[in-house]
Amino acid sequence: MSGEIAARDRVIVALDFSDVEAAEKAIWTLGDSVNFYKIGFELVMAGGLSLAEDLVHSGKKVFLDMKLHDIGNTVMHATRRAAKLGATFLTVHAFPQTMRAAVEGRADSDLDLLAVTVLTSWDDNDLKDAGYTTTVPELIARRAAQAEAIGIDGIVSSAAEAKDLRQRLGSKMLLVTPGIRPAGSEKGDQKRVMTPGDAIKAGVDYMVIGRPILAAEDPKAAAEAIVAEIEAAKK
Ligand code: C5P
Repeated sequence: MSGEIAARDRVIVALDFSDVEAAEKAIWTLGDSVNFYKIGFELVMAGGLSLAEDLVHSGKKVFLDMKLHDIGNTVMHATRRAAKLGATFLTVHAFPQTMRAAVEGRADSDLDLLAVTVLTSWDDNDLKDAGYTTTVPELIARRAAQAEAIGIDGIVSSAAEAKDLRQRLGSKMLLVTPGIRPAGSEKGDQKRVMTPGDAIKAGVDYMVIGRPILAAEDPKAAAEAIVAEIEAAKK
């Protein structure tokens, strides 16, 4: 699957803005250098769903990072609505009931579902506090396997987990990874980062990238350089 995706389509720009105008300005600046945008809670609270529809109508792809988790009926209907909107990716938490409901809501639409296994802000102590008796790596492996069995299309994985997950899951599941930093760029608050080239070599299909593009002096040039690095790594 990963071999068929064009380098430019593998870059997903995270629209981490608190207002639609700022996001629109960034989209306009990037022009045709990227084709895929991630919209999360912050922007959705500020009118980001209309922006998502506008992006879809203009031919861009949209990743709705909604991390759904609710009763099955609600997840099913919300997923169906996201598919109708024309989103390409939607995230759900990797609880079996939630994932099954999302798969039902997605039905035969073009929407791909991505499971969030364990949030990267959680460690073993957070799991224990929440009543779990597993470690983070154990729970990630368990939930990734459940996601695959249920019919989820991909996993949102940290750069650190990507290689192991790719080996466990084979080539069918998509791996979508944030925490990407081109060599020499600022890490910001990301601790374990990977370059775009190394991410491709680890088996990552799509990279979610925010600040290395949006905070660059020339965002379009930064995006083009990342696309070129991905292209080179694929050879
Ligand atoms: O600016 P930066 O490239 O770090 O942005 C990465 C994007 O990926 C942000 O939208 C961030 O919320 C998201 N993300 C992340 N780490 C995770 C999960 C999501 O950085 N573990």
